[in-house]
Amino acid sequence: MDRTHIDRLPLRKTPDYMRTWGGKWYWTGALITIAFTYEVLTGLVLLLYYNPADPYVSTQYVLTTVPFGKLILGTHLYGAYAMIVLVYVHMYRNYFVGAYKKPRELQWIIGVLLLALTIGAGYFGYSLTGDVLSVDAQDVGRGIASLIPVLGPWLASIGFGNGTTTSLFSKFLGYHIIMAALIALLFGYHFYLAEANTMLPSSKASKYRVPATTPETHDMKPWYPSNFLYLIELGLFTMGFIILIPSFVGLFPNAPILISPYPGPSPTSALAALIPPYPPWFLLFLYKALDFGMFQNVMGPLTASVIFGLLPLIYFLLIPFLDRGNSLHPLHRPITTSLGIISIVYMIIFSIWGAFSPGVIIQPLVVAEVLLPPLIVTFGTVMGISRLWKKGKLKIGNKSSTTSFLIFILGLVVTVILTGYSFSYFVVHTSLLSLGRLILTGGATSFLAIGTAKTSSQLPDQKFKKIPTGAYIAIVLLTLMCWVLLGISLKLNPVTQAMTVGMALGTVLIFSGIVLAIYRRVMFGE
Ligand code: HEM
Repeated sequence: MDRTHIDRLPLRKTPDYMRTWGGKWYWTGALITIAFTYEVLTGLVLLLYYNPADPYVSTQYVLTTVPFGKLILGTHLYGAYAMIVLVYVHMYRNYFVGAYKKPRELQWIIGVLLLALTIGAGYFGYSLTGDVLSVDAQDVGRGIASLIPVLGPWLASIGFGNGTTTSLFSKFLGYHIIMAALIALLFGYHFYLAEANTMLPSSKASKYRVPATTPETHDMKPWYPSNFLYLIELGLFTMGFIILIPSFVGLFPNAPILISPYPGPSPTSALAALIPPYPPWFLLFLYKALDFGMFQNVMGPLTASVIFGLLPLIYFLLIPFLDRGNSLHPLHRPITTSLGIISIVYMIIFSIWGAFSPGVIIQPLVVAEVLLPPLIVTFGTVMGISRLWKKGKLKIGNKSSTTSFLIFILGLVVTVILTGYSFSYFVVHTSLLSLGRLILTGGATSFLAIGTAKTSSQLPDQKFKKIPTGAYIAIVLLTLMCWVLLGISLKLNPVTQAMTVGMALGTVLIFSGIVLAIYRRVMFGE
């Protein structure tokens, strides 16, 4: 008799197309949940060793003495990075497919709060190691908080303590854990709403009309084992990469500090002076805006944080009320779509700019030169294509082609801008190098333009095929390799070779994900 009763979990069935290779877009939230689970598990282990009175020393102790300490700390950091990247992917996917519309308005708003909490938890966590970067991040945060009119000094004291190390790092640890707990709580309701509202169906099923829901039909496979095994497969891949990537980067002691899985030097060491004052990479876009000349003269960093941080957040919170049309199609909402694309383009440009020239003041004219072309190209391109589409001169197909169409159009906008810059640079600094850059960006633009045109035409649905004996051979070989890797990692030193163990473990998880994907393909044809 079944003791687990998993098959009686009150979770919704989903159509087969949501579990195909292209179906991953339906589960971006699940990927975040898996990364969050990894964060909670590794965070609880790190909590056992953390000492807010001397954070740098306790962190070094984890790195140099605790078995697998390096791996747990490095993958906890990258797990946070994975969560932040996935939250943006999840939000923008739902934004462009219109998943903030009826009946998911509240689900979306809770989502925006989850985004803010995820970034907040990332900021407080990043600032806990006590290294030079965490102290810089705290200084920037304290600087902005203290500038808030009236509340500034109060916020600075409840946020950053009474000036002693212990009070500062205890508060940061507290806020880090509180935010993680709030994420868990809000996610509970967010997920309940996802089940109650059902998943947004494919555009073929919804015909781009709201309210779009996925009612259960008799031909749908039961949640267990179909969805259950699919989520395990997603879990193996997600955790595999969260472990493998930092383990690989960690093998290079001179990896750039922005991506290193290890903390930087102590703030009191001579090396600290050589490190530019970087915030965490996921706040680089905001940090670069602080350098914009016009802000220096007016309100300082607070204005930049409001314009490039708070206002976009308020926009995303209000979008269910600002865009109330009944169409889900991105080209039927050209302004919303353009604003979505431009916010991604700005985040990418500012982050790269911030990484290469942190703290360098930018004159207003240069700011305009950088901000205006993407704005004009994005709105021009999307409005133009939307007009063609509304006139029936452009046929857009089912969900998979719509997603690739959006990716191509986003890529096209970025390369058009880069080609514009390369051309103006080539005109001013004519050389083989600048010509080479122009040809490269121009080539990328032509490729993406063809891609955009191609994906705008109808694409047939995928048909499933049974896999021959080869599948079984692959499963056996992959399983054998997993055992060999696990055997090797058991012989490694858990302190000095922790990252090599991580490489093996990450690979084993990814191989297991492939084995499960083959098994599901053979057994369920998905
Ligand atoms: C910690 C962060 C978050 C977690 C763990 C999370 C988790 C989830 C899960 C598990 C689902 C079910 C479908 C799926 O797997 O994708 C979902 C759906 C959804 N989420 Fe989130 N989410 C988070 C943040 C966000 C954010 C930032 C937004 C938007 C601002 C958002 C908006 C939505 C919407 C609109 C749906 C419905 C999508 C559909 O029906 O296809 N979520 N979320």
